[in-house]
Amino acid sequence: MDKIDNNLKSYSSKRLEKAPPYFFSELDQIISKLKENGKEIIRLDIGSPDLPPHHSVIEKLYNASQDPNTHGYQSHLGPKAYRQAWAGMYKKVFNVDLDPDKSLIPLTGTKEGIFHLQQACIDPGDVVLVPDPHYPTYLRGTQIAGGTPYLLPLKPENNFLPDLDAIPTAIAEKAKILWLNYPNNPTGASAPFSFFEKAVAFGHKYNVLICSDAAYTQVTFNNKPTTSIFQVSGAKEVAVEFNTLSKSHNMAGWRIGVLAGTHPILDSFLSLKSNIDSGQFLPIMQAGITALNLDIDWLQERNQVYKKRRDLVLSYFKDFDLSIQIPEAAIYLWVPIPPKWKSKDFTNELLNKTAVSIAPGTIFGDQGEGYVRITLNKPIAILEIAMQKIIKWWGND
Ligand SMILES: Cc1ncc(COP(=O)(O)O)c(C=O)c1O
Repeated sequence: MDKIDNNLKSYSSKRLEKAPPYFFSELDQIISKLKENGKEIIRLDIGSPDLPPHHSVIEKLYNASQDPNTHGYQSHLGPKAYRQAWAGMYKKVFNVDLDPDKSLIPLTGTKEGIFHLQQACIDPGDVVLVPDPHYPTYLRGTQIAGGTPYLLPLKPENNFLPDLDAIPTAIAEKAKILWLNYPNNPTGASAPFSFFEKAVAFGHKYNVLICSDAAYTQVTFNNKPTTSIFQVSGAKEVAVEFNTLSKSHNMAGWRIGVLAGTHPILDSFLSLKSNIDSGQFLPIMQAGITALNLDIDWLQERNQVYKKRRDLVLSYFKDFDLSIQIPEAAIYLWVPIPPKWKSKDFTNELLNKTAVSIAPGTIFGDQGEGYVRITLNKPIAILEIAMQKIIKWWGND
């Protein structure tokens, strides 16, 4: 038998050429090596909350997993009580009605849902409107589906909102999805209700699916939730919303979120998902019900912790001539750096010289050049140490 020439075979798909490894996955490896060599790193890079979930949520997970009947495969829609809990939260917090039977699909974290929705919706050549900077999975999901991203710059002078009027008509007519995320990662910006109204009108005008990523709508410093897109009249016909307990309830490692809406794309999404996973671990969903039913006071107290951290970090920058927009929500500061620096060089050098890790702006898109992102995910005492190191290095540089 002829020997197969292995050089003619590439085992990596062409699709993957468009997707380099996720930044934080590579950073984890770099930091593990530094730790093995005895370095202690303060990580203010990834958006993973440091505070625990409410104790009742942890107890529910423990108790539910004692029941031998909770360990089997679950339906892709999860138990009705779980969907009812999400619907209940939407009603209580946003006064939005969602039918638990038809409009809520459990996700193993919204990253999964954001990626898969694009595989369910986008064909090669379809245009996807992606803000720049952005949560990276909007772009990666588009690229791996073979879609064509059209980037919408988020500029400080426009309060980090995309200018929907500047999208050429020919592009808008071809676009299938518009991604929105307010409160915003990485910029920390919030959007006024009128912007959501404008986006919904855009969706109707051009028949574009508006994908609203609501990850931070309950992480706000004035203790009022921001906007669910479904609060806009006519939104349900053109929009879906991603929501997650990762940030609102400190449950990032649990992988628990939801896709909400009545748009027909939910059926395609469910069909795709049913071919991919085998449902969510039941005790996680049961503990999710406990989280979704928590008193709002718990979230508000936690939000005040982030606010204090935000103010502390900002106080360290007060003598620097930086125009930092003060975020009223989310867990990030989006900080401009001196023009002589590339943002990746800046964060690499900072890590090497001070053992503090922050995120370079460019991992969120080209418009992130000139910025770094600091996550407020450490107690005040550690943040103080990190900021002293950052400021000392920056000041001497
Ligand atoms: C805007 C935004 N959307 C989605 C996610 C993903 O969250 P999840 O943990 O639900 O996958 C993140 C995580 O950082 C995020 O910042």
